[in-house]
Amino acid sequence: MSTGKYYLTTPIYYVNAAPHIGHAYTTIAAEAIARIERMKGYEVVLTSGTDEHGTKVERAARAQGKTPEEFVDLISNEFRTQWQKLDLQIDRFERTTAPNHAKLVNALFDACNANGYIYKGTYTGLYAVVSESFVNDAKPGDVDPETGKPYEEVTEENYFFKLSAFTERLLEFYETNPDFIQPEIRRNEVLSFVRQGLSDLSITRTSIKWGIPVKADPSHVFYVWFDALATYISAVEGENRWPADLHLIGKEILRFHAVYWPAFLMAAGWELPKRIFAHGWLLFENDKMSKSRGNIVRPTPIVEVMGVDALRYFLLREIVFGQDGSFSYDALVGRYNSDLANGLGNLASRTLNMIQQYFDGRCLVAAGDAEVVRTAAEIRSAVEQAYEKFDFSRALERIWALIGTVDKFIVERAPWKLAKSQEEADCERLRETIFTAAEALRVACVLVAPVLPHAAANILGQLGVAKADLTLSDAGWGAVPLGEIGTIVAVFPRLDPKPSIQKMQELEEAEKNRQAALVGKPVEAAESIAVKQDFISIDDFSKVDLRVGEVKFAEAVKGADKLLHLKIDIGEAEPRTIIAGIALKYRPEEIVGRKVVIVANLAPRKLRGLTSQGMIVAASLEGGLPVLAGFHEDVPVGARLK
Ligand code: MSP
Repeated sequence: MSTGKYYLTTPIYYVNAAPHIGHAYTTIAAEAIARIERMKGYEVVLTSGTDEHGTKVERAARAQGKTPEEFVDLISNEFRTQWQKLDLQIDRFERTTAPNHAKLVNALFDACNANGYIYKGTYTGLYAVVSESFVNDAKPGDVDPETGKPYEEVTEENYFFKLSAFTERLLEFYETNPDFIQPEIRRNEVLSFVRQGLSDLSITRTSIKWGIPVKADPSHVFYVWFDALATYISAVEGENRWPADLHLIGKEILRFHAVYWPAFLMAAGWELPKRIFAHGWLLFENDKMSKSRGNIVRPTPIVEVMGVDALRYFLLREIVFGQDGSFSYDALVGRYNSDLANGLGNLASRTLNMIQQYFDGRCLVAAGDAEVVRTAAEIRSAVEQAYEKFDFSRALERIWALIGTVDKFIVERAPWKLAKSQEEADCERLRETIFTAAEALRVACVLVAPVLPHAAANILGQLGVAKADLTLSDAGWGAVPLGEIGTIVAVFPRLDPKPSIQKMQELEEAEKNRQAALVGKPVEAAESIAVKQDFISIDDFSKVDLRVGEVKFAEAVKGADKLLHLKIDIGEAEPRTIIAGIALKYRPEEIVGRKVVIVANLAPRKLRGLTSQGMIVAASLEGGLPVLAGFHEDVPVGARLK
């Protein structure tokens, strides 16, 4: 058993978007790691929080008719309650708007300054006038969508951090601490970035109002990352916990954590975190989930239908931790039924029922089957090793190998046959079979507890195992006695895929609307979304069957002064009947013989007792008369427009 403290963190999430399954992914993984470390014997603290400053937040608040303070309170609270709904044990929740944090950021700045790593300079960048902010990813000449004019080049006074002074020191540090950045592939990315040499960073702004004022010069506020990273220290201020043992983050914010953050701390003379692990992205429809792309899935609808553990299991089993992976409702329900309902759930209920049926609920201690005992020990050590590397999918795959072994063992032993026999040897064998199954199930539950805390506690409770605080050593064969079976309840009842998915999608829609009312429209990408909705794909376009037709016959429709009754040859056996609203512009006799464009696959529609079998294409002029589309060159009847 290990002793001592273990401190780990999730990123602090921006409040300009409401929580989604991507945020939940990191937070769930961090919470599972916290459980692993606790089971090793550490006294663990897990922190999360919200990143609440900056222009985007200020604008989002304004768009909602709220003050920034009101807005950030609301969204920060939304993150906190989300983690409660997912039953995640977050020990501290730090906000960048917390008063103790403002002091801490200033203390970090002052320490860097005292050591000569801060200087005043000018920052020149492209500036968006309406949103009053620098646009980091724009090129000179790019147009500001809000004004329709090119971004302006603006120069302002900033404080700079001498990041350039740390290139060598950082490389040395990575060299002597090879586990600092994980996984390996991410470490290599950071190394090659730093090897190119680092440029100084602007860390304050005078153009932003919603931020932490620099105490030494209050016309400046701290710029986002200098502010945000420091929460890792303010979250545990006064607890003697810094440095963190682990910062768990998504790979897109690795540079800030693995380069800037250690440099700030080195400059201040403060201790560095011990490890940074950057996991991959959770993709939806092969794209990173993000509010601006509008492809977000929220966790609570899933949890409502399948339970918290099912979501945890899916995310940690389906995606190799560190790599990108995809979310889909089909895969979610598929994994639930195959692994949780048919796998663990089925083994639990079948084992519990046998104990009940054959031994009145008391599982007698017997020697375990040697082969199963050996497998359980092997798997236990493989799982511990996998957990050490945060390789959740491997750990779970091994635990399911144990479940598979026990399932097979039960079938081979056929206890239902042994139970019918009066022979002493068969009774002994029955005891051994049932004990082996029950003990292996108990071992599996201990091992899976960091990922499925509720299900594991539930099954262990049904097995009569009363131990409250599990440790990894409880996964040893015979380490904790089994007790008396209580009421048997299925932990993972099978789900009917179609209605379950439908239910989750309905709840998702409702949750999406609730969040939209809370946060408002996406701030960064309001324009791009609006534009996006105007686009159709080439596949959409090709659904429209546009053809060249020739008007063969035309007459006025009685009682309708705008309509003409047309018969148009589009290369089919019979000409099409089309009723068109063009009579105010075209007389029947002048239109016969004309080549026109027809939408040939429009659903037929009845007009004035006639069935119109398509539509004629015309420019529709506001307040004016329609103008038929036509051709300047000769085109054959029936040709397709593509
Ligand atoms: N506020 C900064 C972090 C500051 S930490 C000092 C930030 N916030 S964020 O709201 O954008 O959250 C980013 C983090 O959320 C990612 O690094 C990752 O942990 C998590 N994720 C958000 N979307 C995700 C996916 N689609 N997939 C995986 N992780 C996701 O960046």
